[in-house]
Amino acid sequence: MYGIVNKAIEELVSETFGPEKWILVKEKSGVDVDFFISTEQMPLSDVLIAFGEWWILKTGKEKYGYLMESGGGNFKEFIINLPLFHNRVMMIYPKLTPPEFKVTDIKENSLHLHYFSKRVGLQEFVRGLIQGLAKFYACNIEINLLGSRNENSDHEEFEIKWK
Ligand code: HEM
Repeated sequence: MYGIVNKAIEELVSETFGPEKWILVKEKSGVDVDFFISTEQMPLSDVLIAFGEWWILKTGKEKYGYLMESGGGNFKEFIINLPLFHNRVMMIYPKLTPPEFKVTDIKENSLHLHYFSKRVGLQEFVRGLIQGLAKFYACNIEINLLGSRNENSDHEEFEIKWK
């Protein structure tokens, strides 16, 4: 882990809730990581979605703009290229354990995005990332979860539709 994820979380918390909250999180983390989330009464899925959007719209756009632009000229193109995206990220951070994506059922206004990972529990993070990408490209989308590791599949499958 390269610390860029931690840095993004720090910025998200500091900018959204104020720097003093981040100090509190640092004090409490390692002892009771859930403290911050529970006092804000925010479900974990909402936190993951917010962090996914933040990752694209702040970290991606502001710190890795050139990488984001290399991913495609519009939302559909970016998602179709997504399976290869972390190969480019790995040129900067070679020791990553990246997620794996596959794209199927490509139609004019929809496609299916398949997400495979060694990590569990990040499905709503992926939803937030997709929402962030839609905002990045000013595209109106709808996301439906068609399959999940919670329901006997070996990966998550999202149907994404746009106008
Ligand atoms: C400039 C943009 C991006 C950078 C620099 C980046 C970098 C990273 C890094 C450093 C990790 C942690 C890997 C590890 O700890 O080994 C990661 C994980 C991840 N990335 Fe990206 N990423 C970017 C864009 C994206 C996009 C556009 C998506 C998908 C829509 C995405 C999906 C994910 C997911 C789902 C994970 C969690 C890992 C897992 O599921 O196993 N990332 N990325």
